[in-house]
Amino acid sequence: MTRPLHFNAFLMNTGSHIQHGQWRHPDARQAEFNDVGLWIELAGILEEGFFDAMFFADVTGLYGPVDGVYTDNVHEGLQIPSNDPAVLLGALAVHTQNIGLAYTSNTMQNHPFNFARQASTLDHISNGRIAWNIVTGTQENSARNFGLPALAEHDARYDWADEYLDVVYKLWEGSWDEGALLKDRDRGTYSDPAKIHKIHHEGLRYKVAGPHLPSPSPQRTPLLFQAGGSARGSRFAAQHAEAVFLGTPTPEVAHGHIRKARALVVGAGRQPQDIKFFPGLSFVVGSTAAEVRRKESDYLQYASVVGYLTHASLGILPDGTRLPEDTPLKDLPNNGGQGHVDWLRAAIPDREPTLADLTQGRLRRGYVAGTPDQIADRLADWQAAGADGINVINWRLPGSYQEFNEQLLPTLQRRGLAKTEYAEGTLRRKLFGQDRLNERHPAARYRGAFGNANPNDTTIEKELVHD
Ligand SMILES: Cc1cc2nc3c(=O)[nH]c(=O)nc-3n(C[C@H](O)[C@H](O)[C@H](O)COP(=O)(O)O)c2cc1C
Repeated sequence: MTRPLHFNAFLMNTGSHIQHGQWRHPDARQAEFNDVGLWIELAGILEEGFFDAMFFADVTGLYGPVDGVYTDNVHEGLQIPSNDPAVLLGALAVHTQNIGLAYTSNTMQNHPFNFARQASTLDHISNGRIAWNIVTGTQENSARNFGLPALAEHDARYDWADEYLDVVYKLWEGSWDEGALLKDRDRGTYSDPAKIHKIHHEGLRYKVAGPHLPSPSPQRTPLLFQAGGSARGSRFAAQHAEAVFLGTPTPEVAHGHIRKARALVVGAGRQPQDIKFFPGLSFVVGSTAAEVRRKESDYLQYASVVGYLTHASLGILPDGTRLPEDTPLKDLPNNGGQGHVDWLRAAIPDREPTLADLTQGRLRRGYVAGTPDQIADRLADWQAAGADGINVINWRLPGSYQEFNEQLLPTLQRRGLAKTEYAEGTLRRKLFGQDRLNERHPAARYRGAFGNANPNDTTIEKELVHD
């Protein structure tokens, strides 16, 4: 059955995010990303197109070998320079009304106590429109930026993230009971001490006393996104995520992944529809086949193969030399993301993919080219494969989204594949019909969990009375 897809704009606070080389085009303005005016203008365009969210990727280091040269990264502007998305979201929140504001923050870069406070603050400022893309970090350089001797092993990073989530869930869901905030002027009572709890978290990596400093924000826990598709990553998503960003190259590969992922969600005690799937796609839209071909060759003419290879972060030696393009992926050590390699294998089942397949896959399979009706047909295929929405990857800012609104959206709306108005309320209410996480989510177990944990512990009351 056709129903409107959700659409997010996939963005990054940088000059070259995914479609490398495009910043050089005379109409491209992504290199102006330091200018908040660009983002405010873009947010307006996206709200006109009823986009569900601005989804900001982020990294906290360089791609490539840990002690490697980073000449190509810098030449390409490949996610360096880049700015902090959380700070930008604070500005966008006050210039927008409806659009969700999603940002990526990895479990290395912020202590969970501080991160929980930051996310709650943004959720307050935006009236409940914040989403968090939970990532574990894939860059060796990023680990070094936070004082770690090395990037943790792939699966161990997800164990770390499990504890990180435990801490933030306790703060968001358990620390403040409903009705704790009183602001009772007559009695002179700001908040009710009996309803604000320390969390006393003690785990392998973190010790956090609490209480959470912000009062509950409209969503409490921000909408939870996750990106990554390895076996361990999918188990993690099944437990925690409300939305998953996929890098699957075709609807067929997406179908296999989503079917298995929804089974894992059920295994985790949740329901299949508790989680929404968003493949990432770019569009090349034209009103005739000739216009589509012309635009396609214009994009490809600017595309930087070096940029795609450097971003993939495989097959590069510390001195910057690159292994031959026909090197099979199985011969390359990879402690980074694994889901995208698995997805490529599923798309080329008859042989082991090579470095060239990885680059070409990112460059050529990641977009849908055609007239509005042809693109709508393809989106219907993605929907039939289980996709609930699309993360729209831009070639150029803000032009890709202007084109989406002007050339593609009317057809998608006519065919019931895109909405024609925003629903009311928080981001979670728009997507799932309620402001708070549902009771099947693991965070829900912390609601009311700390109130009676130790009735003799009056520390909180004393502190509030005497401070
Ligand atoms: C579509 C997609 C988008 C991602 N975006 C980010 C990002 O913005 N920042 C980041 O650090 N990692 C990002 N990742 C990496 C993943 O979050 C994850 O850390 C990595 O893929 C390892 O997970 P996996 O091996 O389970 O696939 C992304 C991955 C995918 C597939």
